[in-house]
Amino acid sequence: MTQLGTTQPRPHRVALIGGDGIGPEVTDQALRAVQSTGVELETESFELGAAAYLTSGEVLSDQTLARLRDFDAILLGAIGPPIGSQEVPAGLLERGLLLRLRFELDLYVNLRPFATPLGAPAPARAGLDLVVVRENTEGPYAGEGGVLRRGTAAEIATQGSVNTYMGVERCIRFAFELAQRRSISRVTLVHKTNVLTFAGDLWARTFAALAASYPGIEADYLHVDAACIHLVEHPERFGVIVTDNLFGDILTDLAGALSGGIGLAASANLNPARTGPSLFEPVHGAAHDIAGTGTANPLAAIRSAAMMLEHLGEPEAAARLEAAVTEVSGMHSLSQSGTAAIGDAVVELVAKAAGPEHSGHGSDSTPQGRIG
Ligand code: IPM
Ligand code: MN
Repeated sequence: MTQLGTTQPRPHRVALIGGDGIGPEVTDQALRAVQSTGVELETESFELGAAAYLTSGEVLSDQTLARLRDFDAILLGAIGPPIGSQEVPAGLLERGLLLRLRFELDLYVNLRPFATPLGAPAPARAGLDLVVVRENTEGPYAGEGGVLRRGTAAEIATQGSVNTYMGVERCIRFAFELAQRRSISRVTLVHKTNVLTFAGDLWARTFAALAASYPGIEADYLHVDAACIHLVEHPERFGVIVTDNLFGDILTDLAGALSGGIGLAASANLNPARTGPSLFEPVHGAAHDIAGTGTANPLAAIRSAAMMLEHLGEPEAAARLEAAVTEVSGMHSLSQSGTAAIGDAVVELVAKAAGPEHSGHGSDSTPQGRIG
């Protein structure tokens, strides 16, 4: 019976899209890891992705999208057919599933944190500890453009970049707010204002106008090509990077490679206005070549689940999970040990952090992880 004046916390309702290849294996470990924090989830699985498309002929129906809207969050493993497979037309799943979810659910920030674990081998760069705020609903991803006279010598293809003041402003504002919350002293806008003068001008003006409201934060700018050099040579320069959709896509693969590999890279596709669920997914793909071998690294999926917990209002559990992932990612003996063993190590550390010797000390005893 519920006591008067207290409310029983209801389990968070999470839609699970395991997807293709290693997706289901890594999301299984992510769920185990969440369970070990004691946070209760009520999950429902959705068969979506390349395999589901080949069976049903459907990428994402309006009905399924409507059902997904009712969840508190969506956890996604990976989607995509095996590389080289001709069965699924190029772009069909990307546009029809992943981008459709980003656009329809207004997941306008793609938050991607990177921190190099201690002792990570090259090409990892020590001192890299940054978060990318990637605009996630506009830019060249919006799908503006078309083709004329296809297959002829006179073919024309255009692919525009859509940048709205509303889209740019809310993304940059999120970046400054994040820096302020985390006491990060610098926000770097990355663009290509010397060539993309129309879109670049909108981004640069909006950035400068917003920066004035955050006098304690240094507003920094780099062209995207120079940013690549700085990421490799001076990664410690960066705190928060804010950038457009396509630059963010490319920079986050580079940052992933420089911080221990894409097997660690997590992401949160956020609807900060909370008009619907946000979506959490590892940055890596379906990796069909290693699916079923038990060798996929689940840390990116587990870290994405930690970001989900934070978004769901479970910061303590999120920090515990994130700290466990950070510790495990520094255990280089574990990196070859397989999906389940890595999951076990995370679960063990989470349990230890909540163990009886620590109880009663609240957050003092909790290793503080950085999410996002
Ligand atoms: C990513 C992926 C996607 C993107 C693809 C799969 C559409 O590369 O999440 O970074 O380009 O955004
Ligand atoms: Mn990408």
